[in-house]
Amino acid sequence: MNTGVKIFLIGFMGSGKSHWGKIWADHHNFKLVDLDEEIVKSSGMSIETIFEKFGEQQFREWEREQLKRTEDISNVLIACGGGVPCFFDNMDWMLKNGKVVYLKASPDYIYQRVSGETEKRPLLKKLNPMELMTSIQERLNEREPIYLRAHFTLNVEELNNDSLETIISQVEE
Ligand code: S3P
Repeated sequence: MNTGVKIFLIGFMGSGKSHWGKIWADHHNFKLVDLDEEIVKSSGMSIETIFEKFGEQQFREWEREQLKRTEDISNVLIACGGGVPCFFDNMDWMLKNGKVVYLKASPDYIYQRVSGETEKRPLLKKLNPMELMTSIQERLNEREPIYLRAHFTLNVEELNNDSLETIISQVEE
């Protein structure tokens, strides 16, 4: 059975999953599903509001639900929130149901990308610059062993419009 191409983009906050997801989906004529956007659409709330009103546990359950909804979609790129691979059986499920691509970024790169928008990010809210850097380093250390289970790892500093070319041609074979 040819299930077509299904690629999960994973990586830490600020590593460019949504940004590159849009570019690559356009470039290869794939659909794009951004799991954070799906959660916002279906709940009618922002991510910060969900965390504030319902807590992280509820958010993680909705996140899992949206992930599993991608089961029957093909020729699609799925941009996952940074925590997706780290909860429930999500990572095993993605590895089984498609190809998983880890966008690997250094703590410095992430810091540059998220430091101006911590208010929108519940896990980074109200941290001073030093705390922010420490929190990124600690969380990345914790999560990276899981991220590295991906089928492919791409360094974010080297990404371009064609970065998925080889991966997609292998999947299509
Ligand atoms: C989170 C990452 C965010 C969002 C939520 C939690 C995380 O998504 O899902 O704030 O646990 O790393 P992005 O990685 O798209 O910023």
